[in-house]
Amino acid sequence: MWFGAWGIGGWYWGPPRDQESTSAIEAALQSGIRAFDTAPVYGFGHSEELIGQALQGRRHEAFIATKCSLVWDRPGDPFFTTVHGERSVDVRRNLSRSSILQECEESLLRLRTDYIDLYQIHWPLSPLDEAAQALAELKGQGKIRFAGLCNTNVEQIIEWKKLTGSHPDFVQERYSLNQRKIDAGLKPYTLKHSIPILAYSPLAQGLLTGAIRSDRVFGEGDRRGGSTIMDPEYISRIEPALDQARAIASSYNVNLSQLAIAWVLSVPGIGAAITGIRDSLHAKENLSALSIAIKREDSIRLKAIFDPFVNNGK
Ligand SMILES: NC(=O)c1ccc[n+]([C@@H]2O[C@H](COP(=O)([O-])OP(=O)(O)OC[C@H]3O[C@@H](n4cnc5c(N)ncnc54)[C@H](OP(=O)(O)O)[C@@H]3O)[C@@H](O)[C@H]2O)c1
Repeated sequence: MWFGAWGIGGWYWGPPRDQESTSAIEAALQSGIRAFDTAPVYGFGHSEELIGQALQGRRHEAFIATKCSLVWDRPGDPFFTTVHGERSVDVRRNLSRSSILQECEESLLRLRTDYIDLYQIHWPLSPLDEAAQALAELKGQGKIRFAGLCNTNVEQIIEWKKLTGSHPDFVQERYSLNQRKIDAGLKPYTLKHSIPILAYSPLAQGLLTGAIRSDRVFGEGDRRGGSTIMDPEYISRIEPALDQARAIASSYNVNLSQLAIAWVLSVPGIGAAITGIRDSLHAKENLSALSIAIKREDSIRLKAIFDPFVNNGK
């Protein structure tokens, strides 16, 4: 079970709640969660800073994954424009060697460490030659231990192998009961080549907890409402499926969130689930999903229940 640190950054998920976030990291460590996934763009440095502060003096207890290639303070290919606090920010993609080397130094400073366990290209763009070179250099210098690609495809994984001589150590992709784009193409390839998938958004940004109903009004700065899975009409349609899943969850004495995470972990090829954790309760509950052994027939049933609601949109 991994701690997903996007939500604590204070961008996209509403304003930062630093005290709650720090307690969540503390609770995660106490419960036994060791892996933390963050990125510079999560709060434009803030998520990494919070992780760095909380892990000070206990760096050895954690496995830290962060990312590179999305920049906002230097040139790059336009990717998206967003709002952070009061200001508009242009996020760009930059996969040049020099930019990645600079990004890595900045992340090391914010994370208060001299090495990153897993360094991932956040949104790869071909050609990947300079990025592959930068990550090889960083590995050689001991600044990163493993290299990964997020939001990728088979072509880029093959390109990576040609450039580096080996597959990425991990790929990180969106995967949940209702978001399963990687079932076609990417997952069959990674399974065949034993590349572990780190599944992100296993709770579909909170929808699969059952806490988000169709009349939900998202708070100030909480931008989840712009996603197609948070469309009120879609939420109304998926609610009966959530009710059926809730009944299966009760038969295991767990709640819907825990079952949804356990389902992701039951899928062959999924190496770990990265759940977005914003408070101590999330940390404890999500970790206990690891001990749920979903019966094969229930895993198949759950998939079938959500098949009509698969939504691979934004
Ligand atoms: N590589 C990439 O491009 C990429 C993209 C997206 C995410 N990620 C990674 O994956 C992580 C997880 O994804 P995510 O944050 O999008 O979504 P998620 O894990 O699907 O959902 C997180 C949300 O679910 C709710 N939640 C979590 N545990 C809960 C519990 N036990 N009980 C009730 N509600 C619970 C919370 O919602 P409330 O806040 O409303 O309570 C939380 O903010 C991110 O933090 C990030 O590290 C990576």
